[in-house]
Amino acid sequence: MLQLQNLGKSYKTGDDALKGVNLEIPDGQIVGLIGPSGAGKSTLIRCVNRLVEPTTGKVILNDVDVTTLSAGGLRKERRKMGMIFQEYALVDRLTIMENVLSGRLGYVGFWKSFLRKYPQSDVDEAFRLLERVGLDHMVDKRADELSGGQKQRVGIARALIQDPEVLLIDEPTASLDPKTSRQIMRLIAELCKERNLSTIVNIHDVALAQMYVERIVGLQLGEIVFDGPPEGLTPDVLTQIYGEEDWEATIDEVSDDIDDDINEDGIDSAKNTDKVAKDITEAVSAP
Ligand SMILES: Nc1ncnc2c1ncn2[C@@H]1O[C@H](COP(=O)(O)OP(=O)(O)O)[C@@H](O)[C@H]1O
Ligand SMILES: [Mg+2]
Repeated sequence: MLQLQNLGKSYKTGDDALKGVNLEIPDGQIVGLIGPSGAGKSTLIRCVNRLVEPTTGKVILNDVDVTTLSAGGLRKERRKMGMIFQEYALVDRLTIMENVLSGRLGYVGFWKSFLRKYPQSDVDEAFRLLERVGLDHMVDKRADELSGGQKQRVGIARALIQDPEVLLIDEPTASLDPKTSRQIMRLIAELCKERNLSTIVNIHDVALAQMYVERIVGLQLGEIVFDGPPEGLTPDVLTQIYGEEDWEATIDEVSDDIDDDINEDGIDSAKNTDKVAKDITEAVSAP
């Protein structure tokens, strides 16, 4: 179980990005965090593993208070928190297999991973995960040869090889076409259940969230303004979350031909940024 208690973040710029958020996510539950741009969704996710240092409140993961951990303790605790990013944060020149194995950085230590000396058990697990996400036929392909959907599958496998207790996912489909987005969201929802993970997924596409998550939390200006099942998202509630902004614009067209042919993934133009790559390194290795 993941608990956020009175979690607050004020940036040095004076932005109060989170204002005393309380949230409890049981094992195996997937929560879709929605809200307009600037609501504090990314800040919330990053406060959980302290990529962003909270100003007030606590993050408690299975009785461990993450907020008071020392650097060494935090490093260990972060192993339990898998992160998945909008722009994948893969290392382009490495293979799929190497990218997945980099999720073990927090366990094998820098030098072993630098020398690519991963234990056989890690390699076996990487194969199993790549099979699960549908990429076992292309383990030696370089990351920069993949479509957006395939890259995100690698990102998912890399998070899972950490053997996490929590998944933190920031806009996993924002760079993908609608069909690939549904495939990725379905995969995430299935894995959350299979592995009994508490999962937070930030998602701007309300319709997509409604299809695949069991609980929606609406954030507005750093405060929770809705917490309930997808059916509870009435037009009135959406107007409350998104303000007078035209929330219908956030509901992408959802067509009914949902299938799982990953070779039809759309290629997207998203570029890995140094910032995101730095974050993933930080998230899986020493603080
Ligand atoms: N590194 C930062 N420094 C200062 N302000 C920030 C920083 N990151 C985010 N903010 C501010 O915090 C608020 C919430 O941002 P963010 O968490 O990115 O929202 P969302 O992910 O919902 O779009 C915004 O007002 C944003 O400008
Ligand atoms: Mg964001």
